[in-house]
Amino acid sequence: MGRATEDVMHQYERYVMNTYVRSPLVLTKAKGSRVWDVEGREYLDLFPGWGVSGIGYNHPWVLTAIRGQTRRVLHVANNYYHPLQWRAAKKLIEASFDGTVFFTNSGAEAVETTIKLARRWGKGRYEIIVMDQSFHGRTIAALSATGQPKHQQGFEPLLAGFVRVPFSDLDAVRAAVTPRTCAVLVEPIQGEGGIRVAADAFLQGLRRLCDERHLLLIADEIQTGMGRTGTWFAYQRSGADPDLLVLAKTLGGGFPIGAVVAKRALADVLAPGTHATTYGGSPLGCACVLAVFEVIEKQKLLERVNTLSPHLFQRLSALRERAPVIRDIRGRGFMVGIELTRSGRSVVEACRAKRLLINCTQETVLRLLPAMTITKAQLDRGLSILEQALLEVQP
Ligand SMILES: Cc1ncc(COP(=O)(O)O)c(C=O)c1O
Repeated sequence: MGRATEDVMHQYERYVMNTYVRSPLVLTKAKGSRVWDVEGREYLDLFPGWGVSGIGYNHPWVLTAIRGQTRRVLHVANNYYHPLQWRAAKKLIEASFDGTVFFTNSGAEAVETTIKLARRWGKGRYEIIVMDQSFHGRTIAALSATGQPKHQQGFEPLLAGFVRVPFSDLDAVRAAVTPRTCAVLVEPIQGEGGIRVAADAFLQGLRRLCDERHLLLIADEIQTGMGRTGTWFAYQRSGADPDLLVLAKTLGGGFPIGAVVAKRALADVLAPGTHATTYGGSPLGCACVLAVFEVIEKQKLLERVNTLSPHLFQRLSALRERAPVIRDIRGRGFMVGIELTRSGRSVVEACRAKRLLINCTQETVLRLLPAMTITKAQLDRGLSILEQALLEVQP
């Protein structure tokens, strides 16, 4: 480890709360799928910002939008109007379904918004059915909705009203509905939960069940959204529209912004005065959202994902034949999980030593969320490094 890295880590120990499991890497610059550390070393990042930099780090069009907006106004309070908020909302509606949008500053805050909206809509019904192994964020309501007890320990009492069922088990969801239920919350592909893909039939079944029992279907697409799986939103493949769509990460191209898209019938549930956030949907944030849409549309990133993804999965399947440490390969588009027969930590470290950044979730599942702008050559290079690392470890 270099001296400059050690210095920064030392200052963190003193001044920064130690809430994250950090790798010994100090990043100071990034562009596209490449990042540089403080020692000047370059890395290829197949997990840029936990999915935040879905269109690549520092996309020039996002930077131009930010520069342009700084010359006008950064923040306007939400008791006034500004023209970019409706434009960003319109883009989201055009990409999803007819309705209205509430902007937030983070994913967890967007999840919280749907919990409040569903409870208010429920008029006394307050239970929300959530999935095992789900992840919805770290604020207390989003954490209570999360289906992973390990994240909840020590924070009890949690918010009441969440009923957990096995993921992708429609009968279990049906059995969990009570007269108090108001909604079902699901990630179409569980990210933190280990890249577990909900079957289309499950999502379609949820839609029917919600219609029959008068429940809201909430899709948390914070990780899957904005093109990562090859459609704007992962639910679109199943054709089962949710009533509420939750977004963040790629949405702002690196700028912190989240959003809830609500079907038109829900437009008035959170009436004036019932919900708010000071920074949500700022002109700067909305300028970034508009730039992200422009990038995805004009650079044809959905098509890119759909062209490169089969290549990515074919290479991984071929590797599986040769690397007995691989137990399973899952995912869609540019959202990939490689389940190992052993802990993935040493593979992540071996990749980092070879200048490749990836992630491991649930102990054994290597996770790749490459930027949709990655070149084929970069993707191939990353896969070759991963291949070496996987062939080096014992199953
Ligand atoms: C599916 C999902 N929901 C919610 C969140 C929380 O988002 P944030 O960290 O922006 O609060 C995440 C973050 O990883 C996520 O992947």
